[in-house]
Amino acid sequence: MKNALKTLSFNTFIPFFYPALMLPLRPWRKKAIGMLNFKEGDRVLVPGVGSGHDLPFIPDNVDVDGIDISDVMLGIGKLKTKAFHYGHNTMLHKMDAEDLKFDSNSFDKAILSLFLTVVFDPRKAMAEIVRVVRPGGEILVFDHLFRSGAVPTTVAKRVDSVLSYSFASVTRVIDDIIEGLPVKIVDVKEGDPVGFIKGFLLVKNSK
Ligand SMILES: C[S@@+](CC[C@H](N)C(=O)[O-])C[C@H]1O[C@@H](n2cnc3c(N)ncnc32)[C@H](O)[C@@H]1O
Repeated sequence: MKNALKTLSFNTFIPFFYPALMLPLRPWRKKAIGMLNFKEGDRVLVPGVGSGHDLPFIPDNVDVDGIDISDVMLGIGKLKTKAFHYGHNTMLHKMDAEDLKFDSNSFDKAILSLFLTVVFDPRKAMAEIVRVVRPGGEILVFDHLFRSGAVPTTVAKRVDSVLSYSFASVTRVIDDIIEGLPVKIVDVKEGDPVGFIKGFLLVKNSK
């Protein structure tokens, strides 16, 4: 029920304008994904993979599992994967990131692009993602999230309470999302001219 409006949006009107929205972000997205230290044979999770805008920037010599709740976004992602022959081995699954059907500690990396602002419960999804990434593994967050202290205005919060049910929240704070999880932010980069979307590199604590 909580995902009903979101799934409807991502299965109907959003896929039509989404590619145009994503085009200007390509160079910055590539640079952000480059913050990860990929190694040959890495297993990479992409929660909320959508129509696959991250896939061209992931190295060829890794295995990728992309998951999403939208059939339409996933369908476009599957068509693109077939058409563009990305070098990596890519599997796309319908799955809720708040309830991942993967073993704990089974991924080396995760890429969360424009996902934590969209998922209904970002803390629950992040806890699941941290669970399935191995200790010492890296998580790249490419999104419009705030740091604690940069408190969004009351107006932004009001807008947010409506938007967060259908598309994306605009007032989420990454430090709140990861609070209490065995993960730390090790690098932050700004890439777009206004610093709206940042790249956050996180590492899961070693045991
Ligand atoms: C803004 S799109 C980002 C897509 C892609 N990562 C990109 O950067 O272009 C957010 C995606 O998250 C998906 N999504 C939302 N809630 C989700 C959930 N609980 N589990 C998995 N995917 C989810 C949506 O269906 C949508 O495809």
